[in-house]
Amino acid sequence: MTEVSVTKDAKPAADDLVVLKGVNKHFGALHVLQDIDMTIARGEVVVVIGPSGSGKSTLCRTINRLETVDSGTITIDGKPLPQEGKELAKLRADVGMVFQSFNLFAHKTVLENVMLGQTKVRRTAKAEAEAKARTLLDRVGVGSQADKYPAQLSGGQQQRVAIARALAMGPKVMLFDEPTSALDPEMINEVLEVMQQLARDGMTMVVVTHEMGFARSAANRVVFMADGRIVEEAVPDQFFSNPRSDRAKDFLSKILHH
Ligand SMILES: Nc1ncnc2c1ncn2[C@@H]1O[C@H](COP(=O)(O)OP(=O)(O)O)[C@@H](O)[C@H]1O
Ligand SMILES: [Mg+2]
Repeated sequence: MTEVSVTKDAKPAADDLVVLKGVNKHFGALHVLQDIDMTIARGEVVVVIGPSGSGKSTLCRTINRLETVDSGTITIDGKPLPQEGKELAKLRADVGMVFQSFNLFAHKTVLENVMLGQTKVRRTAKAEAEAKARTLLDRVGVGSQADKYPAQLSGGQQQRVAIARALAMGPKVMLFDEPTSALDPEMINEVLEVMQQLARDGMTMVVVTHEMGFARSAANRVVFMADGRIVEEAVPDQFFSNPRSDRAKDFLSKILHH
């Protein structure tokens, strides 16, 4: 019998980009990340889902070291996360992050927002940074908004600028923490489409989202978290049609039938 591959295959282990081993994190008495082992291959798109408070944001924040861990190790492209200083700034540039709230600089134009990290952290020359910023703004569909201030843009446009800003640093991996949760419904798709394209272009991505359509079509793998643990992980088709754990079944029944 021949095996017919119907799902997007997992990438080979030889090309691991982000590796978490035995990661634990507490906030006081709260054990928010419990023995997390997770490996993300270069070019892989991992969607992280789970109930509120399960540790999804904390997981993202530890990967770019906005949070320290209590034990365990995290490596990016074979290198452990640096503690501080220049190396840490460089790591942050290698790990692009897009949050629920767009976090653009309100007093800078869209163009300046996308140039800033390039000139300050990457030390890119201004003309080159501007050219790259304009190319990226075009790519996410807001090229004509370059000279406006963030408040003059819709939420969907601002979030696309935030994606362009992260991409401008030439990151190795992009983390998205509920990037469409703060958007009006009609703006969700324009942001998801940009993320879909990024996934197709081969970007390594970790995406925390409740957008199950995106998970089904863009993810190589779904990771389900509950109470600080990875409870289950599978390719999307398998996860959505046949979740194994009661926690995942319960969660899916709530979000798919609300
Ligand atoms: N800085 C913090 N200090 C104390 N508790 C926190 C902090 N950040 C998150 N928590 C708690 O850690 C748990 C996990 O939070 P979070 O990672 O934000 O979960 P999720 O993103 O899955 O909703 C929650 O109980 C939350 O209240
Ligand atoms: Mg969160």
